[in-house]
Amino acid sequence: RTKAIIDCDPGHDDAVAILLAARHFDLLGVTTVGGNAPAWQVTENALRVLELIGRPEVPVARGAAEPIIGSLPRAGERVHGATGLDGAELPRGSNRVITRGAVEFLVDTVMANAGTVVIATGPLTNVALAMRVEPRLAKSIARLSIMGGSATWGNVTAAAEFNAWADPEAAHIVFSSGARITMCGLDLTRQAAVGAETIARFRAAGTRTASVVADLLEHYRASAERVYGTPTVPLHDPCAVAALAAPELFELTEAHVAVELRGEETRGMTVVDHRYIGASEELRRSAGAPEPNCRLATKVDAGGLFRLIEEALAACP
Ligand code: BDR
Ligand code: CA
Repeated sequence: RTKAIIDCDPGHDDAVAILLAARHFDLLGVTTVGGNAPAWQVTENALRVLELIGRPEVPVARGAAEPIIGSLPRAGERVHGATGLDGAELPRGSNRVITRGAVEFLVDTVMANAGTVVIATGPLTNVALAMRVEPRLAKSIARLSIMGGSATWGNVTAAAEFNAWADPEAAHIVFSSGARITMCGLDLTRQAAVGAETIARFRAAGTRTASVVADLLEHYRASAERVYGTPTVPLHDPCAVAALAAPELFELTEAHVAVELRGEETRGMTVVDHRYIGASEELRRSAGAPEPNCRLATKVDAGGLFRLIEEALAACP
């Protein structure tokens, strides 16, 4: 089994990402980052999610409370609620947060375990700091699958997606690090939106976990409807897990992505260079096009993803 770490800010969709990661990978740890809610709160949530799914032994390490520059925006509360995971009562975590912080945990664990993949479903602060602490890290991560950014428009501003916008400097460090990146941006994750019907199917998986997750997702869906006026809500973060666990469900293309750091209207935007997607090496070179720095997921078989989630829910306690 492939070894994995998930760096996240649970978060309703992060919770589903954790359970999918625990099902498909040898999960070496969960690292947390301030994002949808403060770092202490999302850490508490991660412990509770692991308890719920019957995997309380998985180490949890708390990471950055604030982005590299500025302070943690509170935009995550709009859809995830004050706890970051409103909508259901989860069992209290029986494990403790390990004393090493997330950055040290990421560095030590990846460097000691060749072939480890990292799945990042929150702001990229921890991953960027870990890359600064250990310059060999970027090349040592077998693959870094990111939920973040967008190849088109944003969700928190017109241009920017929440995770990239919450810490653009971190996203910039990561996208220019030379790591083998897979990016699931908003235009991909919007293809994996769930409505009441899909949530009912998840519930029908029949386990206690399935019923708690269905309650969480119903809350998440209703908040999104209030905030965005849509009856369905994207399951963003599970896409980043599935892109590695079930790549056959995805269409991917090599692309160059830059992170806008200065724009007045566009700070945190992931600027995808669409000009050379699919172009030959020769054309790219003669045009002086930037080298692709990520594998961009452009299509997902949402039905296949939902079946994966149902199956994982059915396998939980
Ligand atoms: C991302 O922001 C958070 O609200 C979700 O958990 C997801 O990681 C989507 O923009
Ligand atoms: Ca998230």
